[in-house]
Amino acid sequence: MLDLDDIQHFLLTRTPALAARYEFLSFPAVDRGRAWLKGILERVGTARAVGGSLLDARWVSVAFTWNGLKTLGVDQPSLATFPPEFQQGMAPRAAVLGLTGKNAPEHWVGDLASPDLHAIVILFARDVPERERCKTEHQRHVTESGVRVLSSLDLEAIPPLEYAHEHFGYRDRLSQPAVEGAGAEPTPGSGPPIKPGEFFLGYPDEMGLVPPPPQPEVLSRNGSFLAYFRMQEHVGVFRDFLAQQGKTPEEQELVAAKLMGRWRSGAPLVLAPEREDPALGADMQRNNDFDYAKMDPHGYACPVGSHVRRMNPRDTGENMQRRKMIRRGGTYGPHLPDDAPEDGHERGIAAFVGCASLVRQFEFTMNVWANDPDFMSLGNERDPIIGTHDGSYDMTIPRRPIRKKIQGLPAFTTVRGGAYFFLPGIRALKFLADGPSASARTTAAASARTS
Ligand code: HEM
Repeated sequence: MLDLDDIQHFLLTRTPALAARYEFLSFPAVDRGRAWLKGILERVGTARAVGGSLLDARWVSVAFTWNGLKTLGVDQPSLATFPPEFQQGMAPRAAVLGLTGKNAPEHWVGDLASPDLHAIVILFARDVPERERCKTEHQRHVTESGVRVLSSLDLEAIPPLEYAHEHFGYRDRLSQPAVEGAGAEPTPGSGPPIKPGEFFLGYPDEMGLVPPPPQPEVLSRNGSFLAYFRMQEHVGVFRDFLAQQGKTPEEQELVAAKLMGRWRSGAPLVLAPEREDPALGADMQRNNDFDYAKMDPHGYACPVGSHVRRMNPRDTGENMQRRKMIRRGGTYGPHLPDDAPEDGHERGIAAFVGCASLVRQFEFTMNVWANDPDFMSLGNERDPIIGTHDGSYDMTIPRRPIRKKIQGLPAFTTVRGGAYFFLPGIRALKFLADGPSASARTTAAASARTS
């Protein structure tokens, strides 16, 4: 059974937050970090509380870098039990992730590549006024506890607000792994629920094993690793590209769908190869009910190199139950209306990938699926949406009688920063707030009393 009273809500609830604020924090000293954490603990939502029917108007998630755990007083032997990639952090692993050129850490903003980055606090709110109230309240708490805000990012859902979508205009949050024991049934076509150990530490994984968790167990149990990405979306470049590729709006929409693997409504190309089908896109009972090997082996409907086919090759991939990731996050920056020219504002997605193994799940995805030019023998292609592009990669759109090859795809996105965090359970947050040595004394006293 998943311990829904201990797991932070973040990865398990699909709460409709229309606004959020991320604050990236640094703890100048251990006591200040603990004071900050103690003061915010009560506000951290559990999977049960936030997933239940009595929703508050706001809720909070808290996660730490390896340097943050160190600054909070976790001792060296425990720190050494955390996976090496988490110890290093995302920036030193940029080359593994394919983050070179304009995506490289030297261009990142917000001090995300700095060793002074210790924690992220995510303030979710039902709407913008509530987010602004949270922000003021948190600013007061930051000042009182004496921690430093390195940078922050405000997020807002973009219109239309009825469903989640991103700045290029595609509907999002359609395909998400269902975690066994979390209560949600997988949508048709999504395969069986995934064992909780693929996302939460201390549970059996798809191999039927519980991998040895970082120590002490009170710190790691019910925790997950998060890969954070701030990705700018160049909406003007994207629209200009579509205009060059298609003579009519219909042709342009088809190219947009071929890049993503879904129409903007969310309708999958495998099920709607010829034209947009908004009813299909909106229907969660149908919009994931497809695969590739049997239904579209050559990619005539959905190109092998499209974003969703790379990110989840379904029955054409191997070991797929062990590669799944929970995606969270939202959009930042102002919406660019359909007929407006590029206005120079930064806009994009600020997203998290939640998993139990950053190497097996997130890093594999970035290294192989997103950035390996020869993925599925494509030769010279990268993910058209999130791959690192410099104008030298192509995109093949298979079709009969001859395929279309777009040469020199421009970069539609740029990584503006990223970081690895550990998202602890609630007991672990208390352990960190009390100070690991104080917690050890309390545990020792409790066991002395019982014996
Ligand atoms: C600006 C950047 C991005 C945009 C615009 C974008 C957009 C989308 C959209 C519209 C979908 C289809 C909706 C859905 O299946 O839920 C999707 C699916 C997906 N994306 Fe992205 N995405 C971006 C970045 C990323 C990143 C950084 C990752 C992971 C490293 C990622 C992983 C996935 C996965 C795993 C799926 C589901 C594929 C499936 O199960 O069929 N995306 N993305």
